[in-house]
Amino acid sequence: MSTSSITPSPRLKAVFDSLLVTLRQFIRDHRISHDEYRHAVAFMLETAEKGEIPLLMDVLLEATVDQVESEGHRGTASSVEGPFYVANAPAMKTPAVLPHRANEPGDVVFVSGTVRAADGAPLAGAIVDVWQADAQGAYSHFNIPEAEAKFNLRARISADKDGGFEFQTWVPSSYEIPKHGPTGDILKATGRHPWRPAHIHFRLSQPGFQTLTTQLFVAGDPYIDSDVVGAVKAPLVINFARHENPAELRERGQQRPFYTARYDFVLASALAKAA
Ligand code: DHB
Ligand code: FE
Repeated sequence: MSTSSITPSPRLKAVFDSLLVTLRQFIRDHRISHDEYRHAVAFMLETAEKGEIPLLMDVLLEATVDQVESEGHRGTASSVEGPFYVANAPAMKTPAVLPHRANEPGDVVFVSGTVRAADGAPLAGAIVDVWQADAQGAYSHFNIPEAEAKFNLRARISADKDGGFEFQTWVPSSYEIPKHGPTGDILKATGRHPWRPAHIHFRLSQPGFQTLTTQLFVAGDPYIDSDVVGAVKAPLVINFARHENPAELRERGQQRPFYTARYDFVLASALAKAA
């Protein structure tokens, strides 16, 4: 962005001035020394150099932005996007099998549900954009080499005419955010663990409706009550039911026990926001 394209913004001025007031008061309150100030600058520089600015910001602050922006929101509860969304995942029709490796580790789960308006009307052809870590906590594009599996466990699935969707994926596991860089250092130094409970990310969209970014969490996960990111909301915690009887295995063409999970999403009208 060239400086000549910058036009004065009253909103930016208001929030930036307020940020400075808050930070200057913070310095006075805590009697921040030159030494500590230089440490903070070095920490920010290292965070940028290691490419962790999105991670650090999302871990520390995105859940609060989500809280503020979702106040009064109708429809399914939102949650944070986090730093691992990738646009333009493969487009698929329901029922879909998420892109995966030949020996994708972990247990299969069939996730199904509907996308509806607040009045219950099905949203035909709604786009269900999903992404998740694999059973070992690795996200494609970030922790899995591109050559191995480009859009592993990512897809944009279009719902059917009744707003229904189903996809086969692999049960995610509890997940440690990258802990060997500055974000991990600050968590460790302040006595916080780096874990997120197992989750699947969703971004649901349909013309005329507010795009919903959210996550579904696996009930019973040991980190449900202590998500490092603070993004868990009770209505988004769902049961993953285990199926192991032979008739069910046969019906699903599975050799090993598998899981099913279900969620019915409700999108708020785009008009509700404008109002
Ligand atoms: C964050 C969110 C995630 O979904 C994730 O897997 C890791 C980190 C975050 O908000 O920082
Ligand atoms: Fe995530």
